[in-house]
Amino acid sequence: MITFKNLVAGYGRAGDILRGIDFTAPESAITCIVGPNGAGKSTVLKACSGLLRPRGGQVLLGDEEIGGRSPAEILRRGVVQVPQHHGLFPSLTVRENVMLGAFVNRRERDRNRRRYEEIAQVFPLIAERAGDKAASLSGGQRRTVEFARALMLRPRVVLLDEPTLGLDPKACKQIADSITTLNKEGVTVLMVEQNVRFGLTLADHAVVMEGGRVLHTGAADALLADPDMGRLFFGAAPEQQETS
Ligand SMILES: Nc1ncnc2c1ncn2[C@@H]1O[C@H](COP(=O)(O)OP(=O)(O)O)[C@@H](O)[C@H]1O
Ligand SMILES: [Mg+2]
Repeated sequence: MITFKNLVAGYGRAGDILRGIDFTAPESAITCIVGPNGAGKSTVLKACSGLLRPRGGQVLLGDEEIGGRSPAEILRRGVVQVPQHHGLFPSLTVRENVMLGAFVNRRERDRNRRRYEEIAQVFPLIAERAGDKAASLSGGQRRTVEFARALMLRPRVVLLDEPTLGLDPKACKQIADSITTLNKEGVTVLMVEQNVRFGLTLADHAVVMEGGRVLHTGAADALLADPDMGRLFFGAAPEQQETS
């Protein structure tokens, strides 16, 4: 479980971007943050993974304060971020790319090998394409390899920033399956998604942000069914929209 309490954060000398964020991403559930561009969604994830030091408030992993700790310390506690623009190494194989997820524990070869085998069972793509260069994969397949890599350290929490960005609908389906798989492994997922319908369909809990504040928290399906939310995000009732 990740809890944000009155979290304040920003960049450099500029004013605060996050102006008191309060919400909880419950254990072993999928929580999706939605909201317009510039709302501060990615900033919340950065404050959680240690890429950005909070100016105030708390980030709690269970009962433990992790806000302000280094990215390495937070990673060691089981919080892994798959960033918005993340690359695989194109000239390395799928297996090599996944194994890099355990780089910090690279001396524990047997343990890493066993973990890899588990992951290859969970994601059939990994087993099928293990020896192929990452460069030969489609966009959706690459994203799946990034997820698999994030699982190498048996994370408690996975942070996903815009997992479907730039992907076609078929690839989005693959990503949805991969996120569901992460979740079935008991991982707590906190994701940001600009594809609101996609994110809320997948998620258990929704957080709506705007202007560095939380406007709403609640069940994702309730928000999806809410006509006001249709106006907010789609400019029309949801049923009048193309899902393509
Ligand atoms: N590295 C940065 N330096 C300065 N300002 C930034 C930086 N990253 C983001 N911002 C600003 O913070 C605000 C929130 O950004 P972000 O969290 O990326 O929003 P979102 O992910 O919701 O689109 C924006 O106004 C953005 O311009
Ligand atoms: Mg963002």
